[in-house]
Amino acid sequence: MKKYPFILALALGTISCNENASIHVEEISPAKTTDYEHIGDSLTTNAQAVLLSNVAGAIQNGGFAHAVDFCNLRATLLTDSLSSESYTISRISEKNRNPKNAASEMELNILQNFTADNNHTLVENNGKHVYYKAIRIGMPTCLKCHGTSETLDTEASKMISDRYPNDKATGYKEGDLRGAWKVVFNY
Ligand code: HEC
Repeated sequence: MKKYPFILALALGTISCNENASIHVEEISPAKTTDYEHIGDSLTTNAQAVLLSNVAGAIQNGGFAHAVDFCNLRATLLTDSLSSESYTISRISEKNRNPKNAASEMELNILQNFTADNNHTLVENNGKHVYYKAIRIGMPTCLKCHGTSETLDTEASKMISDRYPNDKATGYKEGDLRGAWKVVFNY
């Protein structure tokens, strides 16, 4: 059984079999929205923690340039490995480093509407629910690989130009919006 009906069954307490199906749809839609947001939030919080601990480990093992190499090889693999049949987790940005992470027109709009108080949203796109949560430059470490000439690590910077010739993801300062987590629900 997929997670979604299971969670809904929990949220609603019980689902009776002899009720009219259309009434069910009416009844479940508010719970559905809350569930997608709730699940999206916990999935992205976890993904962020996993990615951060991996990057921190790579920095500790070999410094910032080595960690760039690590991210180059592993970031997408990691987010893919956290995905499942029921949802796909990825990251998007207006100023993306990995070409695969470029925000679409619709997503640029979402990013532009994020504020300090409004940092996530749930939309429907091509019949699927998609959850987005803002990613900010939350600590000075981010600036070693996403900052300005004053804050960027020199060796990391060289490695970034080498691995990502079309990199747009520099020039940030602490607190800036860097992009967003994206969870596409397949149910
Ligand atoms: C060691 C260097 C390094 C550090 C430190 C670092 N990043 Fe990155 N970041 C990268 C690389 C390399 C990529 C591209 C990964 C890929 O190929 O998928 C990336 C990609 C991203 C992306 C995906 C969008 C894109 O541009 O492709 C986001 C969002 C992001 N980083 C946010 C952060 C935040 C927030 C921090 C601080 C908590 C941080 N990064 C720290 C190197 C780094």
